Amino acid sequence: MAAVDFHGMKRVALLGATGSIGRQAVEIVESHPDLELVAAASGSRPVEGLAPLTQVGGDLTELLERAQPDVVLNAVVGFAGLPATLWALEHGVTLALANKESLVAAGELALAAQERGGGLLLPVDSEHSAAFQCLDGRSAEQVHSLVLTGSGGPFRGRSRDDLDAVTPDEALAHPTWQMGPKITVDSATLANKGLELIEAHFLFGLPYDRIEVVLQPASVVHALVRFRDGASLAHLGYPDMRVPISFALTYPERAATPVAPLDFSDGLRLEFEPPDLETFPLLALARRAGEEAGTYPCAFNAANEVAVAAFLDGRLPFLGIAATVEETLAGIDGAPAHDLDELVDADAEARRLAERGLRVA
Ligand SMILES: NC(=O)c1ccc[n+]([C@@H]2O[C@H](COP(=O)([O-])OP(=O)(O)OC[C@H]3O[C@@H](n4cnc5c(N)ncnc54)[C@H](OP(=O)(O)O)[C@@H]3O)[C@@H](O)[C@H]2O)c1
Repeated sequence: MAAVDFHGMKRVALLGATGSIGRQAVEIVESHPDLELVAAASGSRPVEGLAPLTQVGGDLTELLERAQPDVVLNAVVGFAGLPATLWALEHGVTLALANKESLVAAGELALAAQERGGGLLLPVDSEHSAAFQCLDGRSAEQVHSLVLTGSGGPFRGRSRDDLDAVTPDEALAHPTWQMGPKITVDSATLANKGLELIEAHFLFGLPYDRIEVVLQPASVVHALVRFRDGASLAHLGYPDMRVPISFALTYPERAATPVAPLDFSDGLRLEFEPPDLETFPLLALARRAGEEAGTYPCAFNAANEVAVAAFLDGRLPFLGIAATVEETLAGIDGAPAHDLDELVDADAEARRLAERGLRVA
């Protein structure tokens, strides 16, 4: 589809407008005179009046067809965001992607769609936005390795025994980021870093053995790229999603945001530590799923979505989330999906296995 010139205005379709990212995106759009919200969607909560075109639930690609935006900000949570991701990539419409689950589950299909569509894929996930900026268009060949940072979540430093009886409320109390419930639980289990590892592999074309995860509890360093000449570039800033949202929506400009620049008189601490892979097995499981490729990443994501929902409902203990994902991965063949139908089948099969595991447990 040819880009439409709206006299310098960038027409934004915001999917997941009622969520944590969605609400911050509305704030960014409203504060920027060159951004216009032309469409807004949610899963069930009302979005009327947010934009000229709105939709609650259903097939979000119908809304995108009607809106013909310049940018799709996909801030839907979970696999439900996949059709919109593929629509934007296939149509060559700039995709500002917060919905990491769609790229994790459908990495190969998404990259093939982008190859055909030829549009921009701009990460909104803070670590990937940071890495994108450090890379500045350089090829994977010039990169020694990529370092994704994480806060470690609310349970950093705890042992497995300590985690036996943690409640959803405890898991939802993130030390540095205010986010929706699913990603907050994913941060507590480190599944979020696992999803981000797979997301980074697809976004930047790096093999898994050149992507490292390091904890930086203050969440000030968002990513770091080590280049082959020995130089390392890092991206720093206070943890505030309005920065990567604004970057993606106003790219290639860098518009002003209300976020304060770093203040060194404020006792800035840049301490790093390795993640505890034994207490938080989902990070290593994600790495294995990514390396095994095929539909293993899709199954990892599906089983994790089922398990997190069960944990939040009080049907599964915290440590049961990793156990459910591990059992699901052991029960599938991981055969690659050649098209969207096969991928949707693989997702459904992994969900069935994960649900069955919950009933047995
Ligand atoms: N929050 C963050 O700081 C952050 C940071 C990095 C990446 N992300 C990623 O951004 C995405 C959104 O996260 P969030 O924290 O903003 O989640 P959230 O607060 O739970 O919001 C999720 C949004 O998705 C909508 N939604 C859910 N199912 C849908 C469906 N089937 N069709 C259409 N819309 C649907 C929800 O609508 P209803 O309100 O109607 O349910 C809501 O607007 C996730 O993929 C997350 O991993 C978030």
